[in-house]
Amino acid sequence: MEKLQELISEDQLKAKVRELAEVISKDYAGKELLVIGVLRGAFIFMADLVRELKVPVTVDFIAVSSYGDTTESSGIVRILKDLDENIEGRHVLLVEDIVDTGLTLKYLYEYLQARDPASLRVCTLLDKPERRKVEFQPDYNGFTIPDYFVVGYGLDCGQRYRNLKGIYVFHPEAQPEITGTGSRSKEGVPEC
Ligand code: IMP
Ligand code: MG
Repeated sequence: MEKLQELISEDQLKAKVRELAEVISKDYAGKELLVIGVLRGAFIFMADLVRELKVPVTVDFIAVSSYGDTTESSGIVRILKDLDENIEGRHVLLVEDIVDTGLTLKYLYEYLQARDPASLRVCTLLDKPERRKVEFQPDYNGFTIPDYFVVGYGLDCGQRYRNLKGIYVFHPEAQPEITGTGSRSKEGVPEC
């Protein structure tokens, strides 16, 4: 059986990125935006998004690592690469690939908010609300998807598939919602 099943096509992604950029450009009209990408998953989405924005933009990146089970219980996220920019008094848009349990973004939101930006909003490409463990609502979201493990357009499984141009359900036969059988680890991540 095929390992990957297309969920969102390259054309759908392009259209959605343009749509999001239009809304964001209107919301920030007359302002300068500091766009912060969460490495590594957000790198492709962010690269496409900033090129569609109509307001002046600077970029920075933050890299985080979840502690696996520890993160799920404690919500603590390790910062692997901190920001280079001082965000105090600036309009910050945090860009992430996907909100799953919400733990990463909740932590990052509070971490950035503590540095006194003029404003802070979050833009995600994907949202899996069924998997939420803590309340978190992105300000901008591209697609709400069911509880599938997905890869492509920056998202990985074991660091692979990030370069795919669309979003694909990984191992569809192992996703209970698709076949009614199959199972996944309790973290929701299939074997890669
Ligand atoms: P959260 O803290 O559980 O919301 O996890 C967010 C992170 O988990 C994302 O930044 C992704 O790196 C990863 N993640 C969650 N769901 C998926 C998925 O379906 N495919 C690939 N990575 C995922
Ligand atoms: Mg990520």
